[in-house]
Amino acid sequence: LAIFILGASGQIGSALLKACKGQGQEAVGFCRSTFDLSQPSSLLKQLSQEAEKIRPTALINAAAYTQVDRAEQEPELAYQINAISPGILAQWCFEKGIPLIHYSTDYVFSGEGIAPWKEADSVNPPNVYGKTKLQGEEKIAEASHGKWLIFRTSWVYDANGKNFFRTMLRLGLEKETLQVVNDQVGSPTFARHLADATLLALKKAQSMRDFPTGIYHLCSGGQTSWHGFASEIFLRAQEKGIPLQVKKTEAIQSTEYPTPAKRPLNSRLNMDKVRSVLGIALPDWKSGLDECFDEYLSLREHR
Ligand SMILES: NC(=O)c1ccc[n+]([C@@H]2O[C@H](COP(=O)([O-])OP(=O)(O)OC[C@H]3O[C@@H](n4cnc5c(N)ncnc54)[C@H](OP(=O)(O)O)[C@@H]3O)[C@@H](O)[C@H]2O)c1
Repeated sequence: LAIFILGASGQIGSALLKACKGQGQEAVGFCRSTFDLSQPSSLLKQLSQEAEKIRPTALINAAAYTQVDRAEQEPELAYQINAISPGILAQWCFEKGIPLIHYSTDYVFSGEGIAPWKEADSVNPPNVYGKTKLQGEEKIAEASHGKWLIFRTSWVYDANGKNFFRTMLRLGLEKETLQVVNDQVGSPTFARHLADATLLALKKAQSMRDFPTGIYHLCSGGQTSWHGFASEIFLRAQEKGIPLQVKKTEAIQSTEYPTPAKRPLNSRLNMDKVRSVLGIALPDWKSGLDECFDEYLSLREHR
């Protein structure tokens, strides 16, 4: 018996595997060599084969097409990975009677206004990635009347991998002046905090009389801009004696930093639902950053 985790090489997938290990929870991580979500037609056969070897108690899908800008050029591939395949996973989990956990994004919202988005607010993704993630939510809901939780999260980063935290540290070591966007606001979410909260949510949901199937917003507490996040990264790096070159971090507008995919300005997510239904709240984004730095520094020591 084990939890199946897809996308095991990604930020959230690898954090989930570590969290399971830390809690003595049996889990099997799968990469795209076993489950290629761009090939939905082969998924059911693969799932059955793997389930014959180890019986899954739940399936967590942390695999996705996550290259937001590139998705503008590869909409069909992003659709297969982010929408069609999650629908098939949901159908399979429904037939097996096991819960599916899946992740979605703040990019399902248009980004207007300043109020934190609630789950029931109307969606209007500003880019292809967001559209395909939204279609994934819809496919899951269509495919399964069973147990599923979709966590819309935001601005995920980790001590490893390719993400804003790592990019800023690299640039901060190379350049004296950096320009960072200041008009997009959201919550930077440490992958480990999200992984811990996911496992807790699964446990709580399974212990409830009626499984609380639905979409939930789940990201760190508090909010900042990318510029605010970068400034905090540099502040902590200096405190920890990392020899940064960067002396000035200039705040710019999104219009001054054009990207192929449009980003929402308001990525604030309201977390009342996850708090009231599942009793879960992630720590503030700054404490996530502290913990990420601890992990980053201990990884550096061991390199
Ligand atoms: N990162 C964020 O800021 C953010 C924000 C909101 C929501 N999310 C959502 O959170 C989830 C996990 O994100 P993440 O940050 O952990 O992403 P990530 O680090 O980019 O990892 C993505 C994972 O998906 C796998 N993958 C990509 N294409 C695949 C395919 N065709 N078949 C099977 N696996 C495939 C990757 O495998 P390879 O290593 O082989 O490429 C990797 O393991 C996604 O659903 C994402 O949409 C992320």
